[in-house]
Amino acid sequence: MTGKRILVTGAAGFIGSHTVDRLLADGHTVHGIDDFSTGKVENLSDAKNQPNFTLERADITVPIELRNHVKQFRPDTIIHLAALVSVPKGEADPALNYRLNVQATHEICEAARLHSVNRIVFASSAAVYGDCNELPLTESIAAEPVSQYGWSKRISEQLLASYSSSYGIQSVSLRYFNVYGPRQDPASPYSGVVSIFGDRYDAGQQVTIFGDGSQSRDFVYVADVAMANALAATSAAEALPASSSINCCTGVSTSLLQLTQILENIFPEVAPPAHGETRLGDIKHSLGNPSRIGDTLGFVPATTFESGLRILLGK
Ligand code: UD1
Repeated sequence: MTGKRILVTGAAGFIGSHTVDRLLADGHTVHGIDDFSTGKVENLSDAKNQPNFTLERADITVPIELRNHVKQFRPDTIIHLAALVSVPKGEADPALNYRLNVQATHEICEAARLHSVNRIVFASSAAVYGDCNELPLTESIAAEPVSQYGWSKRISEQLLASYSSSYGIQSVSLRYFNVYGPRQDPASPYSGVVSIFGDRYDAGQQVTIFGDGSQSRDFVYVADVAMANALAATSAAEALPASSSINCCTGVSTSLLQLTQILENIFPEVAPPAHGETRLGDIKHSLGNPSRIGDTLGFVPATTFESGLRILLGK
């Protein structure tokens, strides 16, 4: 396979940095941009030393900045990961959510159109399915989001589809389920449960399960998500539809009680979890159907939940 030129937005973030690592390992030439509002340069400490990687600060909502990067780097593909990444933050500041998660996607489309980029890979989310409880969630189910964040991802998918039909820019929107792994910030109240619980157990502290712990999620390991991004960016054009929305998930359901059971086995000295009130607006179960990502991209998750958790914890 000949290496491709790939521009990654949000390159210094949690999923972005793993995606950069994967692309470089696969022999591609990568240009990363990030505004470093949440991304960290340390996340790219391995990548930084590699000759086929460049990294620059840029604000993708400023059209001229973004277009200059695309014009100068001339990517075959853009992987667009920069975003506001929290449902509650999107509810609290819908204007910011719109600017970062809709307007910026449009800027990416425009930059791609103006500078002849062949393909865009986009970080969508299982949040597009809203409160649907027809499990497992399959792409044929109508996306009916229930949050500003979920809507912004859905609208972005449609923008990409419109640029595909009008201008022939191929697009792949990957609907990430619950991503976990190293470099996810455990300190924020918006952090995912795996990073919060992993961090607490590691520090010898008791965790609180909101509800009875029977709620479950489809946890997908970040290096597997990076692999999915790389496959979506580099698969042969003929192998993919002009525009598609594809679940990025494992199809495996894990409850919070299963999660804390594994953590208790690793850290037997830590007090068992406390239980608190069910979190407002919580969904009980979330599970994706991974058939389409398997069929179109040949994606098979390489990491079981327990092994991913052990890598995260260094155990
Ligand atoms: C994710 C989003 C959330 C969004 C939802 C719907 C993140 C971190 N969360 O939530 O903003 O509303 O998708 O699309 O992106 N839990 C505990 N104790 C804790 C923390 C969490 O019991 O200290 C529970 C939660 O109540 C939930 C489960 O763990 O039942 C998973 O929580 P989380 O990791 O936030 O993921 P989602 O609920 O899927």
